[in-house]
Amino acid sequence: MFYPEELVEEVRLKNDIVDVVSGYVRLQKKGANHWGCCPFHNEKTPSFAVNGAKQMYHCFGCGAGGNVYTFVMNYENYTFPEAVKMLAQRAGVTLPEAEYDEEQKKRQNHRQRLLDVNKEAATFFYYQLRSPQGQVGYRYLADRALSDETMRRFGLGYAGKSGAGLIQHLKQKGFEDKLIIEAGLGSYNERTGLLSQFWNRVMYPIQDIRGKVIGFGGRVMGEGEPKYLNSPETPIFDKRRNLYGLNFARTARSGNIILCEGYMDVIAMHQAGFTQAVASLGTAFTAEQAVLLGRYTDNVLLAYDSDGAGVKAALRGIGILRDAGLSGKIINMQPYKDPDEFIKNLGREAFQERIDQAENSFFFEIRMLERDYDLKDPESKTLFYKEIAKKLCGFSVDVERENYLEAIAEKYHIGFENLRRLVGSYAMQTGLDKPPERPKSGLQPKNTPQESNRRSQRLLLTWIVDDPAIYPKIARYVGPEDFTEELYRQVAGRLFQDLEAGQYQPAAIISMFQDQEEQRRVAELFNTNLPQLNTRQEREKALHDILYAVKKNSYEQLTMRLGSDVNALGRVVSGKKALEELAKTHISLE
Ligand code: UTP
Ligand code: MN
Repeated sequence: MFYPEELVEEVRLKNDIVDVVSGYVRLQKKGANHWGCCPFHNEKTPSFAVNGAKQMYHCFGCGAGGNVYTFVMNYENYTFPEAVKMLAQRAGVTLPEAEYDEEQKKRQNHRQRLLDVNKEAATFFYYQLRSPQGQVGYRYLADRALSDETMRRFGLGYAGKSGAGLIQHLKQKGFEDKLIIEAGLGSYNERTGLLSQFWNRVMYPIQDIRGKVIGFGGRVMGEGEPKYLNSPETPIFDKRRNLYGLNFARTARSGNIILCEGYMDVIAMHQAGFTQAVASLGTAFTAEQAVLLGRYTDNVLLAYDSDGAGVKAALRGIGILRDAGLSGKIINMQPYKDPDEFIKNLGREAFQERIDQAENSFFFEIRMLERDYDLKDPESKTLFYKEIAKKLCGFSVDVERENYLEAIAEKYHIGFENLRRLVGSYAMQTGLDKPPERPKSGLQPKNTPQESNRRSQRLLLTWIVDDPAIYPKIARYVGPEDFTEELYRQVAGRLFQDLEAGQYQPAAIISMFQDQEEQRRVAELFNTNLPQLNTRQEREKALHDILYAVKKNSYEQLTMRLGSDVNALGRVVSGKKALEELAKTHISLE
């Protein structure tokens, strides 16, 4: 933590969450909450609730949640200290300067210097493009049908034939050689001294999600090698975790994100109105990028080149998306090579049609697979079917597998029962392929015993936070140690301690955690949907049941550890007694 806890609390208390969120999302008060459409996933009916009393938000659709800090961090992609800084400014709280330790300060300054030098270079390239020497570049871009406005929006520029201009300019602005080299903007050579790394190229500044220039892609004019030269990785340029165009795409609200192969595709798509287009950064699409996309959408459409390399990249991308819990579809670009060409020739409506007709990624995989087999040859055909069966085994959810089985059987005229037997025999040999359990942010797997135990624990914590008056009534039955998830236990520990002390600030507890995923889960803990109960009796019974479930699970966990934990026996005995007592006890909510 960079700032003292009291200060972090002060800033939080001075920034009412309803006010802050209202600056980003249109909210409407209904009951205890203000409701709006969730900015963290795409939706048309509001399931995003901001609670003024708790000073928290929670999305019942995607599970996003947190306090005012988490909101700003997620929305603006700020780090925690950046969020504190912004909210402090908003509330007129002055932060002490020297809260960073030396090491952090140095790192922070260094990152800032790298951003500064990139920004200066981008400005330089931008003006070059519009100067007489930049005409080559400007004409190239105009020939590729980019409007002046589009070039401006993407901050396109030009690196001139001489490599000296940029360096001279940057030095004049006070940037040291070492920084220029580290940023990948220049390289040193005994004979020539420091020269620009980019020359005779149109320049595509690569922006992070906040619009800060973190690197460049430069396309050579004419036939040079390499066609595209990209900045190297630096402390501010992580190619695995950024996507070209995402700074615009994240607010496109189009219900999907379109993943393309190149910078030019993205720009052409945006110009045609498809502002949801992004591309990876001269490297293959990564799992980290998939997770990043998952913060904005569940639907990713692939608009890769229609050539062999593009298909291969698409097949790879599908797997990565699936692993991240996202559904992928493939846009058919035929007869054109890429979205840029497609749109130039057939226009935006035709492309919209292709979006609407995008092919389910599983069908695409099977269709591509089919090309390796000769369906006129019985032997080859059998192998093809077997391969299909093998792929169908990859679906661990029964309904999903059945649905695909049915669809594929129909599509390829395979008898449904035959295909099913094939899947069955394949599964017998190898076992159904169970992918590792990866709960996508917010969407927890339902109905497992663990999940129902976790749910009881969440219900109890939410109930206490909503109605702290029940705490004294149940305090003698339940303690932090009854919460069997580590995170829940920490939260309960702090919450109960605060309640004992008569101060109750659930939103502050969120800031105890540094990791955003943890913060989200804490917010979720305090925002579980409580059952709607009308009579006092019903509520007493529900509370009793929840408490009993929590207690029983804690007791069972303890019993399981009996062998390995020497202190457990005593606690098991007393736990059993407590459980029996609780079973007979009536908790009055009067
Ligand atoms: P393409 O060669 O398909 O680029 O590479 P493009 O966008 O169609 O290029 P134009 O239309 O000829 O200008 C797709 C992407 O792969 C990366 C770039 O990000 C490019 O946009 N790439 C390609 C490189 O990083 N280096 C290269 O040498 C080539
Ligand atoms: Mn291309």
